Amino acid sequence: MRYLSAGTDPKTIRISRIGLGAWQFGSREWGYGQSYAEQEARAIVRRAVELGVTLFDTAEIYGFGRSERILGEAIGEDRESVFLATKLFPLLPVAPVVEQRAVASANRLGVRRLDLYQVHQPNPVVRDGTIMRGMRALQRVGLVSEIGVSNYSLDRWRAAEQALGSRVLSNQVRYNLVDRSPEYDLLPFAESTDHIVIAYSPLAQGLLSGKYDRDNRPTNRLRAANPMFLPENLDRAGELIAALREVADAHSATPAQIALAWVIHRPAVVAIPGASSVGQLESNVAAADIDLTEDEYQALHAAAARFDPVTGPAVVPHLLRARFSKGGPS
Ligand SMILES: NC(=O)c1ccc[n+]([C@@H]2O[C@H](COP(=O)([O-])OP(=O)(O)OC[C@H]3O[C@@H](n4cnc5c(N)ncnc54)[C@H](OP(=O)(O)O)[C@@H]3O)[C@@H](O)[C@H]2O)c1
Repeated sequence: MRYLSAGTDPKTIRISRIGLGAWQFGSREWGYGQSYAEQEARAIVRRAVELGVTLFDTAEIYGFGRSERILGEAIGEDRESVFLATKLFPLLPVAPVVEQRAVASANRLGVRRLDLYQVHQPNPVVRDGTIMRGMRALQRVGLVSEIGVSNYSLDRWRAAEQALGSRVLSNQVRYNLVDRSPEYDLLPFAESTDHIVIAYSPLAQGLLSGKYDRDNRPTNRLRAANPMFLPENLDRAGELIAALREVADAHSATPAQIALAWVIHRPAVVAIPGASSVGQLESNVAAADIDLTEDEYQALHAAAARFDPVTGPAVVPHLLRARFSKGGPS
């Protein structure tokens, strides 16, 4: 495993370049079922700890608290060797509510300190000054170590930092070979100022593993509603998957591993793939040690730039057709 040490005290902040996303734990939208929530999720976390993963990401909204409970219970006595991140869903985020919600998250996780407390998404109405007052109080009493945001533009990330009056360490955003928008401004900012971009959906929810095509589409509700898994878009992704396979063959790796290695090729990025099995987790962790050559990196970039999925309002008829066609996802 490789680590990123951000900021002033590298000893206390050791963040694995590949972390583990825990949205899957106990949340209905992924549809992994009861035995996953009760057994597999725990096994995934235990194996992740064994393999040196320190970054674990959850949110109060995942499974309405269930993900935090599962994760906290599974980490157990290893609490001091991990970097635990959770998120506040910013509904009515006035300072006292922010503080109460952090306490509730810490209780569900079974910890006395949240290593990273993130605002899950920008509130369109309430400005960050209000939220950050609560965050500052949480830092002052030691319940929260670092503050982060998620799904923030660069301007709003900076404004949040100004409102906090100190570092807002990270911005958690979608970053993968299908969505490279953070490259325009978030990555250059993070790289030049000692901040971190936490890449979510680094595998584009499994699309980049190459195991899905129009005859084998994921069957859960979440991905049935994701336009990337439309038969048309799975067809169009073929060239990108082929490029991943070619690089993967050269490294005796899998397309999913190469997709992750590509994401963390940039220095200020850590990725938090979810996993539906211990085997996937092991494979994802191993991707941290893959070094892509510059040629490989650029070839993947070029293949990604040629990928032209159906997006926007044009997807609606496709989604309806896929929903009602025989054998479509349920
Ligand atoms: N801040 C936010 O707004 C936000 C939004 C989304 C996600 N997140 C965070 O980011 C984490 C990851 O994002 P995500 O879950 O959306 O997408 P992801 O990590 O890109 O995809 C995860 C899925 O890909 C498949 N997969 C994982 N490893 C694989 C491997 N080695 N080989 C083949 N398939 C593999 C699994 O699904 P199957 O096996 O079922 O195919 C798994 O559930 C979440 O758990 C959550 O913590 C945050």
